[in-house]
Amino acid sequence: MNAITGQKRLLHGGDYNPEQWLKHPEILEKDIEYFKKAHINTVSMGIFSWGVLEPEEGKYEFQWLEDRINQLYENGISTILATPSAARPKWMADKYPEVLQIDETRHRKLFGGRHNFCHSSPVYREKTRAIDLMLSKKFGKHPGVIMWHISNEFGGECHCPLCQDKFRQWLENKYKTIDALNDAWCTTFWSHQYQSFSQIESPSPRGERQLHGLNLDWKRFVTEQTRDFLLFERQAIRDGGSDKPVTANFMYDYQGLDYHRLCDGLDLVSWDNYPTWHKREEYETAIDSGMQHDIMRTLLKKPFLLMESCPSATNWQGVSKLKKPGMLEAASLQAVAHGSDSVLYFQLRQSQGASEKFHGAVIDHYGGPDTRVLREVTRVGERLSNLSFLTGTETEAKAAVLFDWHSRWAMENAQGPRNDGLYYKETVSKSYRALRRLGLNVDLPDMTQSLDQYSLVVVPMAYLFRGQFEERLKNYVEGGGCLVMTYWSGIVDENDRCFLGGTPHGLMEAAGLRSTEIDGLYDWEENHGRPLEKNSLGMTRTYSCRNLCELVKTDGAEIIMEYTDDFYAGYPVLTSHLYKKGQVYYICADMEQAFYDDLYEKLAALMDLKGPAEVIPEGVEVTVRTDGEKDYAILQNFSRQPAKVKLDQGWTLIENGTLILETENNHRDQQEEAWLNPLETQVFCKIKKEQA
Ligand code: GAL
Ligand code: ZN
Repeated sequence: MNAITGQKRLLHGGDYNPEQWLKHPEILEKDIEYFKKAHINTVSMGIFSWGVLEPEEGKYEFQWLEDRINQLYENGISTILATPSAARPKWMADKYPEVLQIDETRHRKLFGGRHNFCHSSPVYREKTRAIDLMLSKKFGKHPGVIMWHISNEFGGECHCPLCQDKFRQWLENKYKTIDALNDAWCTTFWSHQYQSFSQIESPSPRGERQLHGLNLDWKRFVTEQTRDFLLFERQAIRDGGSDKPVTANFMYDYQGLDYHRLCDGLDLVSWDNYPTWHKREEYETAIDSGMQHDIMRTLLKKPFLLMESCPSATNWQGVSKLKKPGMLEAASLQAVAHGSDSVLYFQLRQSQGASEKFHGAVIDHYGGPDTRVLREVTRVGERLSNLSFLTGTETEAKAAVLFDWHSRWAMENAQGPRNDGLYYKETVSKSYRALRRLGLNVDLPDMTQSLDQYSLVVVPMAYLFRGQFEERLKNYVEGGGCLVMTYWSGIVDENDRCFLGGTPHGLMEAAGLRSTEIDGLYDWEENHGRPLEKNSLGMTRTYSCRNLCELVKTDGAEIIMEYTDDFYAGYPVLTSHLYKKGQVYYICADMEQAFYDDLYEKLAALMDLKGPAEVIPEGVEVTVRTDGEKDYAILQNFSRQPAKVKLDQGWTLIENGTLILETENNHRDQQEEAWLNPLETQVFCKIKKEQA
């Protein structure tokens, strides 16, 4: 299996800004010396270099970049080359104000900052294309350049007249007639009907914000317009003659763009991960960051890159916490465990001034090699070298938890059962966490992706259905799938118009019930779910629930658990329904974590869904990558105590933080019990069984 980057090594390195040091050749020399010491094999360059690459309009200066790429290459270090569109030079903003965004209150921004250009501006596109073409022509076939990094962290939105026009065109394309748009957005409400597309304005605090259909379509348009810009840059690179892979770096839990839609213009997904380690138990943070890795991997369902992470402390979080010894290694290898082919940092050398001068870096202001951070980075580099066999290996998951941008946008915008917080992401995370505790790999697809390969599909709070999702879920169950669905699902269509005739729309028969009402709970309120005697699932405990309690009327479904309190005591909380060849479980309330842990333990046992280990203590992550012939289990201990994991037969220890690097005789192969110190990572291997 070959990695898309063409490298048979895991990439190690990160953002590098030599343009800040051109007056200090001695520093640039030292950089290379330290990079080699730390097993750094890759840099990302040019991300914010437009001002140096084109200091005056039409006057290009690429020599410094060529020298850097060459010298790094001669030293075995590859370059991920960026297009510079994320930050524009001052001369451009002054001469062509249209490149500056207009905000939602309709005010044009001044020059400054970054990530703030208009995606529609013909001038911005022309200037971007010109420089991208030249970069591609000059460096696109250079053996030291391994891939393209388009712009940086796409995001933001522009409400300028150019963007308004594009929005109107996009709507006209979509709806064809204004009548169809009025229907879709339910504009009869409050007399908000439009007579023509030309009257439409993007949402604004000074104007329209109550038409949920408009808000939703605006979000979709922003994604389309950003995607269009991304594809435009990609085309410039291709027209310049380079066919190297293209990526764009995504952000943690970013809600401004539908990444599923964006990523079809990418050869591989990459993202920037900045967890607040040590703010709470490391395991809590690890679960959250593991889920983000899995969301990113599921976008293209193949290995991704960790494009940025911090080797030490960031300088933009509330508190700039240092990573305790071993934390960097554990966090870095967690990305690899979940499917990353890289560990890249922001940044390699700390800048001397401006807003990121105190952001952690591989080389700090002191500038010497004898620092704790450089030692930890070197250690990561060593481990990555030992793990190069993982490059390009895939992740197979039998369980999926739906995570859908459009549904979340609509749900969080709708004024519904709980404006003080619906806890969508937390609800997704409860199922995710419970499945991960069983040592199962988990995918997080959206409503556009296939579900056929999964034995278990969890659909938490799928408020909005699009693309005939209800039909697809029904087919999935009919074909023998196991579906777990929760409250507040199948409520509205793709325009955020409520379904008539009962919910969950299209699935009442399959679930054997109909949702009748939903109760929002105050923060201090709770209810409970208690099992019915002799329920078929063998649930035995009572659990608390909060925030949202749905009331359902069963029609064929078995009641497994019921509410204990309030006027709906005795109403179902958990139901089960056999439908054709499959099974539907329906969860009515926002249950506590322990409920999910127990539920999935029972379901996994029923379905014979197994990870590589029988017993996984709290705090340990077990993740599997595969090359088709061999499976690799990566065990990580994120708890603060040593942990023992009992693996199934046939797993052999092949790489371990202490044994391989520091001990000559490794007597521990063929073992089935793994002992892990806090923050330790061990890798095991097993020959895959022949498929029957
Ligand atoms: C990222 C950004 C980098 C750098 C980093 C600091 O969001 O892409 O350029 O600013 O944050 O943590
Ligand atoms: Zn604009």
